[in-house]
Amino acid sequence: MSATTPTVVKLGGSTLHAMPDAWWDDLAEHGRTHPLVLVHGWSRPLRLLRPEYSEPSAILRDRYGNQSRWTTPEVLADIKQVSAALTEQLDGLLGARGISTERVVGSDGLVGAAAGERWWWKDKQLVELDNLVGPITDVDPTLLKGLRPGHCVLVTPLARNTAGQEVNTDGDRAAAAVSGALGATALVLVTDVPHLLIDDRPVHRITAEAVAEFRDKGATGGMRKKLRAAGEALERGVQRVVIGSAPVTDLLAGRTGTVITPS
Ligand SMILES: Nc1ncnc2c1ncn2[C@@H]1O[C@H](COP(=O)(O)OP(=O)(O)O)[C@@H](O)[C@H]1O
Ligand SMILES: [Mg+2]
Repeated sequence: MSATTPTVVKLGGSTLHAMPDAWWDDLAEHGRTHPLVLVHGWSRPLRLLRPEYSEPSAILRDRYGNQSRWTTPEVLADIKQVSAALTEQLDGLLGARGISTERVVGSDGLVGAAAGERWWWKDKQLVELDNLVGPITDVDPTLLKGLRPGHCVLVTPLARNTAGQEVNTDGDRAAAAVSGALGATALVLVTDVPHLLIDDRPVHRITAEAVAEFRDKGATGGMRKKLRAAGEALERGVQRVVIGSAPVTDLLAGRTGTVITPS
């Protein structure tokens, strides 16, 4: 990995609050020699803001079984409020360690999305709903031109759809699209579990093909999305995706976590 190759890290909303000082020290140390992109999640802070977002009705499932948060304009406003606070927190943590930051909200031109699915399962019926979500179609890397060692771009994974609407999108898949667009060699998905589990056993290495086969059978919720994101990143030329909960340099070195490779 050359010093100019950016490292893309997605930090899950489930775990952001729990990363110890040593995790931030490690990220800053890595960031001194590698440009950093940190894509943040928001699941836990959003639940803390409004407990009703924990209720099953807050999540919709499409015809294919893909889940997403039912995103109304009010939910989007809550996401933006929580994300602004998170970004400030991240800026404080990295700034204190000598890494400068800038914020890019995906919907400000970084991430494009297609029109969203309109039919969703509700109370065991498929119903037509306005849901401000959309599948990512493209990333414009010119918005990331400030990348350099010692600097970290903080990305809020929202997108803009073809109708010009701001939409919610999946953070893992956004990070995959960003890493592909940047030509990053690795994508690190930091979450609240140390490994992918298959049959309750930790997986240390796995190929994209095996992941695709396992994904729809054995993984649920957040992990299913991560595996989908991993496949997308590898398809876009990223050489490996690492999922885990350890310091980024340990994950990049394959000392822990689950390393997913094209073959
Ligand atoms: N096969 C699996 N192996 C590991 N974790 C899994 C698996 N299937 C589902 N999960 C769940 O996926 C979660 C991680 O996804 P998620 O909650 O979305 O975290 P994040 O906030 O990092 O995106 C884990 O906490 C775990 O409960
Ligand atoms: Mg998740």
